[in-house]
Amino acid sequence: MQKLSKEEAKKRIEWLRKEIWRHNYLYYVLNKPEISDEEYDKLMDELRSLEEQFPEFITPDSPTQRVGAPPAKEFKSVRHVRPMLSLDTAHKEEEILAFDKRIKKELGINEVEYTAEPKLDGLSVEIIYENGKYVRGSTRGDGINGEDVTENIRTIRSVPLVLRDERKVPSFLAIRGEVIMHIEDFEKLNKELVEKGEEPLANPRNAAAGSLRRLDPRETASRPLDIFFYEIMRAEGVNIKTQWEALQALKDWGLKINPYVKKCKDIEEAIKYHEEMEKKREELEYEIDGVVIKVNNLEYQERLGAKTRSPRWAIAYKFAPRKEETQIMDIVVQVGRTGTLTPVALLKPVDVKGVTVSRATLHNEDYIKEKDIRIGDWVKVARAGDVIPEVMEVIKEKRTGKEVKFSMPNRCPVCNSHVVKEGAYYRCTGGLSCPAQLKRSITHFASKGAMDIEGLGGKTVDLLVEHGIIKSISDIYKINKRDLLSLPRFAEKSADNLIEAIEKSKEKGLARLIYALGIPNVGEHTARILAEKFKSIDKLMSATEWQLLAIREIGPETARSIVNFFKEEKNRKEIEELRRLGVKMEYEEEKGKLKGLTFVFTGALKSFTREEAKELVEKQGGRVASSVSKNVDYVVVGESPGSKYEKAKKLGLKIIGEEEFKKMIE
Ligand code: IVH
Repeated sequence: MQKLSKEEAKKRIEWLRKEIWRHNYLYYVLNKPEISDEEYDKLMDELRSLEEQFPEFITPDSPTQRVGAPPAKEFKSVRHVRPMLSLDTAHKEEEILAFDKRIKKELGINEVEYTAEPKLDGLSVEIIYENGKYVRGSTRGDGINGEDVTENIRTIRSVPLVLRDERKVPSFLAIRGEVIMHIEDFEKLNKELVEKGEEPLANPRNAAAGSLRRLDPRETASRPLDIFFYEIMRAEGVNIKTQWEALQALKDWGLKINPYVKKCKDIEEAIKYHEEMEKKREELEYEIDGVVIKVNNLEYQERLGAKTRSPRWAIAYKFAPRKEETQIMDIVVQVGRTGTLTPVALLKPVDVKGVTVSRATLHNEDYIKEKDIRIGDWVKVARAGDVIPEVMEVIKEKRTGKEVKFSMPNRCPVCNSHVVKEGAYYRCTGGLSCPAQLKRSITHFASKGAMDIEGLGGKTVDLLVEHGIIKSISDIYKINKRDLLSLPRFAEKSADNLIEAIEKSKEKGLARLIYALGIPNVGEHTARILAEKFKSIDKLMSATEWQLLAIREIGPETARSIVNFFKEEKNRKEIEELRRLGVKMEYEEEKGKLKGLTFVFTGALKSFTREEAKELVEKQGGRVASSVSKNVDYVVVGESPGSKYEKAKKLGLKIIGEEEFKKMIE
C-alpha cells in the first residue's frame, strides 16, 4: 500500500471508522448488511494498519479498541442512575386480565395501550453514553449498586461505542438491556469446556453471566455475547413520551432492539402476542422465557409508580416450561468435587422440543420423597431453559405396581467409603481417596482460573488417576516424564509441555492457589479478597470465623466452610506438601503500574535498545516475553516489525506503537 501523509492518514482513519460504524448499524441493528464479512474485515484491517503506522490517531472509541484493557483485580461497585427493578410474574391469562383491570382502575380510564416484548433470558446491564460516546457499563448487582464491567461490555460487538446522530443524541443517556448468549454458541462453548475437562454451564443465561464477569476482558471478548436494549432509564435533552417511541429512539441511535417488539392496542392483543411468541420461541436463536407487557404511555408509568422491587406498570407473562413424558429406567448416583451425592434419573430418551433428553437431575433425597419418584415411573420432564432437565412430576395413573422405590446408598458408589447426611444432602466421606472426588478436584486445581496448567484437562486427569500416578493434589508436582510417556496420550513433546506447564504453575501466587484448593463457597473473587487480606496461607489457615466475618464480602456460610476446610488435618498436610514441592504461597504486593502485564517487542525502537525497554517494563512490575502468545497483553511495534507482528494481529492482541509505550512507562 502506498504510504499516506499524516494528514491523509487522519482523514482516511476517520472515514474508515464512520464506514465501519455504519456497517455495524446495518448488520446488528437493522439486520440488513450491505457488504460481506470479507469486505468488512478488509475495512477493519486497513484501519488497524493505519492506526499502527499512526498510533497518535488511536481513540478509545475506534472499532479497533474493543479489547485492550488489562485484567481487573476486582470489579468496582457503581451506583445505578435509577434502581434497576425486577418484574412481577404471571403464568395465567387471568392474572394478566387482573393486571389490566387494576391499571385501568388506578388510572381511572377505560383504554390502555401496551407494548409487548420478548422476555430475554440473559442478564440485565446498565449502559451509559455521554454525548453519544460509550462511557460505562454495569451489571444489575443488588439493583441499586452493580459491578463495573465497562471494559467487558466494550468487547460486545453489538454495543456501539459511538451513537448514530441522525436523531438528536442526548447529552446523557442511561439505558438498560439484556446480555445474552445464542444457543448455538452456548452449545459450542460447553463442548469446548467438557473437552478441557471443565464443568459444562447449566444454560445460556449462566454462560452469558459467567462470560461477562471475567476479570480479564480478553476472555469476555473471546465469548460470543450479544445484547438487546429495552429501556431508557434517563435521557437528558430529549423528550420521549411512550415506551414504543423509546424503542424507536434506541434503534435510531444505533442500539439493537429486539425485532419482535410489538405495540398492542389493548390487553387482548398482548395476550395473543404471548401465544404467538410461545410458538415462535422454538425457532429463535436465543432463549426467551416469556413476554414482558408494559404500559406504553410513560406518563401513565410515572403515575402508577413502583413497589420496592418491581414497577406497577409492567408484568412478565411467563411461558409454561417445555415438558414431555417418558419413563425412568434407573436412578444412579453421581459424586461431585466435594463429595456430594446427586441422584440422577436415567430416562428412556425423549425429544423435548428439539433436545434429546436421557438424564434428569433429581437434586436430592427430599426431592425424590416429596414427588414420590420411583424407578419405572412415567414422568414429565421439563427443560426450563436449562440443559440439565428436571423431573417435574410423576404420572401416577400410569403406575403398574412394578415400580421400585429408591433410597440413597450408605456407601459411595465409586469408592465404597461411608456416606454421611448433611442437611438435605448426602456426602461421600472418602475425600480425595475417592477417585470421583479426586478427578474433579484435580481438574479444578489445574483449570484456567486456578493454577492454569495447560494440558491437564479432564481426559488426562482421568488417565493419571486411573493409572495411579496421581493420588492427591500434590502428586501433580511429582509427575515425571517417564510417568507421562507410559500413558497412551503422551509423546515426547506433549510430555515436555505438560511438565513445563506444571512447573510454571508454581508461580501463580496466593490468590489462585486459594481458589485452586476448592474450598466450598470460595470462588475466584473471594479467593482474591482472602489473599489480599491475609497475605499468606499460614495466616489464612489460622483465621477464626470472627476474623473472616469482619470482611465485608464474606458471609457466615463461606466463613464456616473456610475454617472447616483448614481444620482438616489432611488438607493442612496437603498444603505443607505443596509448599515443600515448591509451590509459591506468598502474596505479591502491588508494585508498579505494569504489574501483571506481559509485553512483547517486535521491530526496532527509536528511543531505546531492547534491553533498556525490558528493564523499564520490569522496573514497573511488568514482564517481557520473547514470543507472542495469547497470554501477552501488549505488543509494542517498532520500525519494520517481524513475524511476531503478524501473529499478534491474528490473535487479536493489543498492538501499540512506540509513542504509546512511552506514555505507559512515563
Ligand atoms: S423491563 C422495570 N424488558 O427480566 C422493568 N426486562 O424478571 C425492567 N428482561 O431483570 C425490566 N427481557 O433482566 C424488561 N424486554 C424486557 C426484558 C426484561 C428480559 C429481564 C430483566 C429483568 C428481568 C425481570
